[in-house]
Amino acid sequence: MREPDASQPRENAWTVETGLLLWWEDFYLPIFEYVLPEMGALEGKKVLELGTGTGGTATLLAKQGASVVGIDLLPFRLDEAKERAAQHNVANAVDFSLMDATQLAFPDNTFDFIISKSVLVFTEHAQAAKECCRVLKPGGKAIFIENMRSHPTVWLYRKLFLKYSRELHYFSLRDVEAIGREFEEMEHREFHLFSLGALFWKRIIPIPIFYRWTLHILKLVDKSLLRLFPLLKRFCWITAMICCK
Ligand SMILES: C[S@@+](CC[C@H](N)C(=O)[O-])C[C@H]1O[C@@H](n2cnc3c(N)ncnc32)[C@H](O)[C@@H]1O
Repeated sequence: MREPDASQPRENAWTVETGLLLWWEDFYLPIFEYVLPEMGALEGKKVLELGTGTGGTATLLAKQGASVVGIDLLPFRLDEAKERAAQHNVANAVDFSLMDATQLAFPDNTFDFIISKSVLVFTEHAQAAKECCRVLKPGGKAIFIENMRSHPTVWLYRKLFLKYSRELHYFSLRDVEAIGREFEEMEHREFHLFSLGALFWKRIIPIPIFYRWTLHILKLVDKSLLRLFPLLKRFCWITAMICCK
């Protein structure tokens, strides 16, 4: 398994269109900046998005020239996703289908890339990963952005307010490594320890400038802490895995 150097920025920086993100998804920007350059130029590439939800990521990738298939288990989400793609004039480049990520109805070696965000936690991880590996072309990459189990504040929030979270399979570092074993190669990086503290200014006392600055500073604090004390990775909120077939 490749261990990335968290301090190194990636080449080929992508600009993520923030209008396609939901309110809390500022937190996903550094994650997109880590994973999207892995895809390189998307013109003519076939991409599968698992659990597309409202289709933000599928639309973002279609706008970069990819031909995208977005799947989800909820028909109303697929309707929202179609509308979103149409609003951004990429309806022709995205196909949305009702399908289970653990039983993909595609032939082997179909896609150049697969991406999912907060979806594997709803599934049996190994089964979804096996299916992804099967439908990826040799040399293709699967990118999984997932929620981790042990961030203390997030853990408490889930216990108090998210009753359904008991059913979900949040990731430990061991689970991340198990995903890696389904592929030829994998690297992963973990994000957000203290940076979640910025939500105080976003949700409780909404002062945008304090939010932006706190987020910026706490992200730098997290980066340094994770570099100095890699054991802290297990307490992060989000993990991003880049898996190669
Ligand atoms: C938390 S939402 C994330 C949506 C989207 N990826 C995003 O980041 O905005 C999880 C989505 O995964 C879908 N989902 C859950 N289990 C699934 C499965 N086995 N196959 C396909 N989609 C699934 C849900 O219906 C939901 O739309």
